[in-house]
Amino acid sequence: MSILVTGGAGYIGAHVVRLLLERGDEVIVVDDLSTGSAERVGDASLMQLDVAAADARDQLELVLRERGVTAVIHFAARKQVGESVEQPEWYYQQNVGGLANVLTAMRAADVRTMIFSSSAAVYGMPPDQVVTEDTVCRPINPYGQTKLVGEWLLSAAETAWGLNWAGLRYFNVAGAGRPELGDPAVLNLVPMVLDRLARGERPKIFGEDYPTPDGTCIRDYIHVLDLAHAHLAAMDHLTAEQAPIERIFNVGTGSGASVRQVIDAIGEVSGLDARAEVEERRPGDPPRLVADASRIGLVLGWQAQHGLQDIIASAWEAWQAGPRRIG
Ligand SMILES: NC(=O)c1ccc[n+]([C@@H]2O[C@H](COP(=O)([O-])OP(=O)(O)OC[C@H]3O[C@@H](n4cnc5c(N)ncnc54)[C@H](O)[C@@H]3O)[C@@H](O)[C@H]2O)c1
Repeated sequence: MSILVTGGAGYIGAHVVRLLLERGDEVIVVDDLSTGSAERVGDASLMQLDVAAADARDQLELVLRERGVTAVIHFAARKQVGESVEQPEWYYQQNVGGLANVLTAMRAADVRTMIFSSSAAVYGMPPDQVVTEDTVCRPINPYGQTKLVGEWLLSAAETAWGLNWAGLRYFNVAGAGRPELGDPAVLNLVPMVLDRLARGERPKIFGEDYPTPDGTCIRDYIHVLDLAHAHLAAMDHLTAEQAPIERIFNVGTGSGASVRQVIDAIGEVSGLDARAEVEERRPGDPPRLVADASRIGLVLGWQAQHGLQDIIASAWEAWQAGPRRIG
């Protein structure tokens, strides 16, 4: 297959690019390199382009046609919740406008298959602590809204011109499939803790009075390599003989770890003193957010292979291979 991967120079996209190359697919990465980097794409070809720019549609259509692309995996998006609250217009322009551009080009070039990076952020503060894909979606920030609107847009394109799509709602992604592919951003818990330790500071816990066994929030941590494999499973589902039976899938492990457990695991793996300091709760943090991952298991035959230890060990190895090695 010839697959176009937007955002393929980023953290998650690069893992998928490497797996696609390993299985012999031709891969074209389209990325503006705003948070990604060219060396992450390996032997894939790279086209530097902001997919949300006004002139992106024509360039995308051209590359889809010239390279005989059969499917698109769309990672390219802005993902900082706080920034999305401050600049909602820009987030909609980037995340929804970018997706609309890619879909317009696909429709023009008659490319009908897409996998979309959605997020557990679509659920907001759900009433259930274990969420199924049918749990009501009430995102509480513009970032989460753009992901939900993205799913709606894909569904509308399915109705209008037969788009064959899957939306993967990622839970808490962490770890690295290779030491050089670690998460370069300091936005999620594991890199945030490593960042604090690299500065010689104590990790922070925001609230330890939640109704959970150790009082800290519980999340579903998914190894980025497992997540990457979920994309291949979704692609196989979309391109199989039979019509796809589901479009939206939670990608998580189905079990949770608390903030304190994650920090303790980082201390154990690294041998560092990772005793945390406790601060006030942050607004908008549900006590427990764990995926019901049964649909993806049943329909795609996918399940996570790696637990928290593997996630932390690989994240630590990647951190130590990077520019801010500790010790
Ligand atoms: N990391 C997570 O925990 C997580 C969780 C849920 C969903 N997601 C989603 O997964 C996707 C990938 O996330 P990531 O963690 O790899 O982030 P990332 O920032 O590492 O990757 C995003 C990539 O897209 C590129 N990009 C961004 N905007 C672009 C644009 N307008 N045009 C072209 N390229 C653009 C960036 O340069 C980068 O290479 C995003 O859609 C994100 O919202 C991530």
